[in-house]
Amino acid sequence: MSAERRSRLVVVSNRVAINEKAMRAGGLAVALLDALKESGGLWFGWSGRVSDSTRVSTERFDRGRLSAVTTDLSSEDYEEYYNGFANRTLWPLFHYRTDLTRFDRDDYQGYIRVNQRFAHVLKPLLKANDLIWVHDYHLIAFGEELRRMGARQTMGFFLHIPFPSPEVLTALPVHDLLIRALFAYDVLGFQTETDRHCFHEYVRYEAGGHVDAQGRAHAWGRQVETAIFPIGIDSAEVARFAVSKEAKAHSSRMARVLRNRLGVVGVDRLDYTMGLPERFRAFARFLETYPENRGRVSFVQLAPPSRADVPEYVDIRHELEGLSGSINAEHSEFDWTPLRYINRGFSRRALAGIFRLARVGLVTPLRDGMNLVAKEYVAAQSARDPGVLVLSRFAGAARRGADAALIVNPYDIQGVADALHSALGMSLPERKERWRSLVASVREHDITEWREGFVRYLQAAQRADRRH
Ligand code: ADP
Ligand code: F6P
Repeated sequence: MSAERRSRLVVVSNRVAINEKAMRAGGLAVALLDALKESGGLWFGWSGRVSDSTRVSTERFDRGRLSAVTTDLSSEDYEEYYNGFANRTLWPLFHYRTDLTRFDRDDYQGYIRVNQRFAHVLKPLLKANDLIWVHDYHLIAFGEELRRMGARQTMGFFLHIPFPSPEVLTALPVHDLLIRALFAYDVLGFQTETDRHCFHEYVRYEAGGHVDAQGRAHAWGRQVETAIFPIGIDSAEVARFAVSKEAKAHSSRMARVLRNRLGVVGVDRLDYTMGLPERFRAFARFLETYPENRGRVSFVQLAPPSRADVPEYVDIRHELEGLSGSINAEHSEFDWTPLRYINRGFSRRALAGIFRLARVGLVTPLRDGMNLVAKEYVAAQSARDPGVLVLSRFAGAARRGADAALIVNPYDIQGVADALHSALGMSLPERKERWRSLVASVREHDITEWREGFVRYLQAAQRADRRH
């Protein structure tokens, strides 16, 4: 802790959400705000604005302990870097959607240009002793660019999304340039053992390098430490949110709509990786296979629009509008709407209230780095009458401490329908037993453990560097 105090933590990410007002749906912003609230430091990234001035803004919070420096993106940057290479190339590719992956050299140049510009803006603000922690697929090349400008600080990179197997990654024409850039960092962090394993496989079989007994990867004449840091939540805060006035207002609103029916809830950014069409179909199948639930259960899906200028996100939105309309048209009664599909964001307190009221949390991504919603659903439950988590095996959250959830394969529509049936029919003692096991893990492996774990690695790398 004392070393953490001596060295300032500098966090770099595309999204910066320094307060609740600026918060957007998305695990990275939620997690980093929770992590930085405790440690203080500097948070640097995109302002969220697109403008042709390259304005840099600074804001200070919490008596100066935490500051944010942000920069705008030009419309060309926004198209090529954010909508293009980050969200039409890396995002689908790293989530195993090679069918949606598009590669364009101009977008790649734009990505490198923005990584360079971010490095250029941050460089003069750095102190010699800073620990720099870079986040996610938007900024893979950032560390290499900062090193080219002469930065010597200790730097780590954490990937919030899955790291794909080399067979998938090598579909990207510039895979070697990208992965080589990761070797500019001192520490690489992954969500799960599988992600780290895929990285190691790439190092061995594509980069011609090796991995030593300590998990250190060696390639291109460079080396980097690799480790696993599964991201968590501030569970005490979510539990507090769940009993707040705002949460209670939302629980009561939802209870009025449900009118003694059981609620199933899904909360996700509107993204094709979340498995929403499959989830909607599974709910319809559940009503067909178990018709005694007609009029007894309602499914509420909240899905705030995300990356709305990317064509694949426009397509998934249209698909879900059609599907929700046809499911309701087919199954509704005068006094019962089976599926409520809502495209807007809610405050974290409101979400916690909605989670607490729902008997089932349905979290079925086709592929997901971790999935914080699964953990938030668990943390928001009441110990006296907890709900059941139905969780995709393809979410990082299913990899540790989640045995007590009902684990499903989201591609298996009948399997998810059957799991819903089991969850809704589960006895109170079984619900309590499963919840106690889930919540113990969510509490133990929380956001503080994640931050401290990564920072410890950065500190060790800093000490090792001083010895040389
Ligand atoms: P991702 O990072 O891919 O979006 P996660 O589940 O890890 O997925 O994180 C999503 C975060 O965004 C969670 O903290 C969740 O509470 C928040 N969130 C999701 N949907 C909404 C919504 N409708 N309104 C507000 N926040 C949301
Ligand atoms: O962790 C997944 C992630 O891509 C974050 O990097 C990102 O901030 C979040 O989802 C939401 O996406 P966006 O920043 O594009 O709105």
